[in-house]
Amino acid sequence: MVRRVAIGNNKGGVGKTTVTVRLAEALAKAGHRVLVVDLDPQGNASRRLGWVYDKDDPQLTISEAIRADESGAASQVVQPVGWTAGYAERIALCPARLELENRMSEAGVVGAHRRLVKALEGADDDVDYTLIDCPPSLFHLTQLGMAAADVAVAVTEPEYDAVEAAVRFRDFIANRAADLSNPGLELVGVIVNGVQAQLGSHAFQREGLRETFGDLVWDPVVPRRSVLIDADESALPLSEVSGGKASEVRAVFELLAARFVKAVPAA
Ligand SMILES: Nc1ncnc2c1ncn2[C@@H]1O[C@H](COP(=O)(O)OP(=O)(O)OP(=O)(O)O)[C@@H](O)[C@H]1O
Ligand SMILES: [Mg+2]
Repeated sequence: MVRRVAIGNNKGGVGKTTVTVRLAEALAKAGHRVLVVDLDPQGNASRRLGWVYDKDDPQLTISEAIRADESGAASQVVQPVGWTAGYAERIALCPARLELENRMSEAGVVGAHRRLVKALEGADDDVDYTLIDCPPSLFHLTQLGMAAADVAVAVTEPEYDAVEAAVRFRDFIANRAADLSNPGLELVGVIVNGVQAQLGSHAFQREGLRETFGDLVWDPVVPRRSVLIDADESALPLSEVSGGKASEVRAVFELLAARFVKAVPAA
């Protein structure tokens, strides 16, 4: 049975999408089937996975699946990713475009927070993991993700504002999961991204993260490496970029994927 994981933080630019996409890649390489749900109107996860919007033959996106308010509607919008690596066949995508912003206006509609979980019913039965890439806000789109998820994982940089925002993500789940009709939702991991070993402030914040989140902080941390920017910019899998310590970063995500599977065992 699929395990659904909401990946988030209340701060922008901390690497939520980078980590979601690279975890999907590492999980697929390890043989798992993964669905990435792009819940951010920026559509960064969709683009980085090589998905391209075709305006002459427009594809459906997660926005239409949420708007439908129908059980299983997401199965209409699941698409292959654009990567050509063999293991990418095990990654599927519910893409997003700016149009997803329009779902915000439904936030006050009765039951609106349940529309994603409804849309996913039966739509992700044939994958092991559904990774939900949340936007930096804690408002409606993220709440759709939280209502649909079995567990949540925070991504943070070891920097003051990012850590505070990860705490807000955790506390929001603790205080509001029941209001989202998902009282069992809990944070099961904190992934530390963009670490610069030479920075004293990063070492200080990593210590603080351990004090605040204890064992929820996963090893290994993700170092700041230009190869991740290169892969994201060129919409390529990590296996197809070189230089910039590519093999080190691939190994980090392989270990993180193993940590992920330990924390979120296949059901
Ligand atoms: N470990 C890293 N090393 C170097 N660059 C990174 C790393 N992680 C992320 N980046 C880069 O930092 C930028 C922000 O990352 P990303 O878009 O994944 O953050 P985000 O939290 O999803 O942002 P948003 O809140 O806008 O959705 C991107 O250009 C990405 O390629
Ligand atoms: Mg993002």
